Amino acid sequence: MKKNLQLFSILLFMSMAIQAQYNTMPMPEALYGTDFNLNIHESTKQLVTGNQTITGAINNENFWGPTLFINKGDLVHMNVTNNLNESTTLHWHGMHLPSVMDGGPHQVIPAGTLWQPYWTVMNQASTLWYHPHLHTTTQAQMTKGIGGFIIVKDPQEAALALPRTYGVDDIVLALTSRSYNATTNTFVSSTRVYGDYMLSNGTPNAQISLPKQYVRIRILNAEIERGYNLGFSDNRTFYIIGNDGGLLNAPVAVTRVKLMVGERVEIMVNLGGDAVGSSIDLKAYNSGQAFGFPGGEPNTSGDFGSLLNNIDFNVLHINVAATTTATTPITSVPSTLATNTYWTATDANVTRAIAVTNGNPGPASVPFNFDNVSYSLTMTPKVVNLDDVEKWTITNSNVFGHSFHLHDVEFKIVARNGVATAVGSHESGWKDTFYLPKSESVTFVAKFNDFADSDVNHPYMYHCHFGGHEDGGMMGQFIVTGTMGTNQNATNTNFSLYPNPANDRLYVNLKDSETEIYYVTISTITGRVVMMLPQPEWQNGIDISSLEAGVYTFQMMDKQSKSTTTKKFIKK
Ligand code: C2O
Ligand code: CU
Ligand code: CU
Repeated sequence: MKKNLQLFSILLFMSMAIQAQYNTMPMPEALYGTDFNLNIHESTKQLVTGNQTITGAINNENFWGPTLFINKGDLVHMNVTNNLNESTTLHWHGMHLPSVMDGGPHQVIPAGTLWQPYWTVMNQASTLWYHPHLHTTTQAQMTKGIGGFIIVKDPQEAALALPRTYGVDDIVLALTSRSYNATTNTFVSSTRVYGDYMLSNGTPNAQISLPKQYVRIRILNAEIERGYNLGFSDNRTFYIIGNDGGLLNAPVAVTRVKLMVGERVEIMVNLGGDAVGSSIDLKAYNSGQAFGFPGGEPNTSGDFGSLLNNIDFNVLHINVAATTTATTPITSVPSTLATNTYWTATDANVTRAIAVTNGNPGPASVPFNFDNVSYSLTMTPKVVNLDDVEKWTITNSNVFGHSFHLHDVEFKIVARNGVATAVGSHESGWKDTFYLPKSESVTFVAKFNDFADSDVNHPYMYHCHFGGHEDGGMMGQFIVTGTMGTNQNATNTNFSLYPNPANDRLYVNLKDSETEIYYVTISTITGRVVMMLPQPEWQNGIDISSLEAGVYTFQMMDKQSKSTTTKKFIKK
């Protein structure tokens, strides 16, 4: 007891010493345009006194990655290079795109490989994100800090008087917590799911200066498991203007908002009444949550323990600075934001039920799964018909809360525990992720439009977004099938490549012009994959300028028969 008390006062003293000093929270670098080069790599960051911590990051960041600004309607190209020394994937969370571009567990990018997905942006203005999704490795790679924001712009959002100067009155805030292993200089990953120390955009004890006016904060719960019950230290009212899939129809005034792993919320808060030089804290009011709230456990040590469990703690210290002069300050919240027409329960022509179940106990313990089946890459997918409107009810008769996420489309939550009015106002917009508390059910309606691909090797996922649960098998997959115009006739998949040798661009000459190219994989002659091109835009030639001189194999998979044909070429 005495020892515990001593330890407690040491910890208290340590946390006070840490609290005393704030670090300025940087905005991740902003990238604009239609072509994005993303280099995933290992890095290091000074996060605790002593040695730097080994992290994972993208481009110039040393934890996390750049914020990608993209416009609805644009054709965007991603050049993702995996410079880790292990395989990874990069998933575009919330993005509506073909499954072969989705970056889920099936689109594995080997170390050293360039993966080039592309798509036309169909999402409306929203705050999305990207992160690794390699099955059984997601928790470890996300713990290292690999991820980033995507901000989708569209004309409807642009026409509103909203704060939108990035880093000035419109900021992104990724919430995570970490524990440190001082021997290996790494984050603690698999053994503990809740970190002991808060990181806001990868910054411990974060502070920021924000102007004396309305500001917009795009908040992402990028945790492994912890939930956040967010609010301001003076309990002021703030406005939820958007959630996962974009703007709500009208702002919702709150003093607290719960945000679970994978969810996003866009808030506006008025600093116009605050004195320049004053400060206010955005906090997690996580003490006293109902049993099953992730991070509400009382213990400070052990697998589910953390120094941040069941307490209120700071997320962001905000220093109020002068009103902006370069950009027009926003002084009110628009009363209407969007005109979303949501699916209703009666729109659905297909109904599905999914149950959270307990996995197999024992040494190779799988704590949770869906419908008593643990995920495997080759499990039978659910089959959804293109353009069907489906109603899914996810039931959690489990002892613990979860965070449920669906790929491909945004959906509308129509009921909690069968009750429509029990859906929170903060989750009233288009959603792709939601909190599924213990002993509760959630019903949502989605239309699976635009993209069909019957290839079981490229399904979409649904899963718990807790890194460990997902890695442990709490995931399922589905394909969307329909007639997408694929030629049903047998085709001759022979082709030739020119010029050969080639310098910058390599052209494909198909023997049968009916052949549709589904996937191209370029490998060295020793078999190392160097480029992966889902449904390449081959008509204008394939850019091979990044390859070193040498002999390569070019493997083409055709869409009709899924057969592969391989040719060699020389890069000058
Ligand atoms: Cu944010 Cu399937 O993931
Ligand atoms: Cu996702
Ligand atoms: Cu879970």
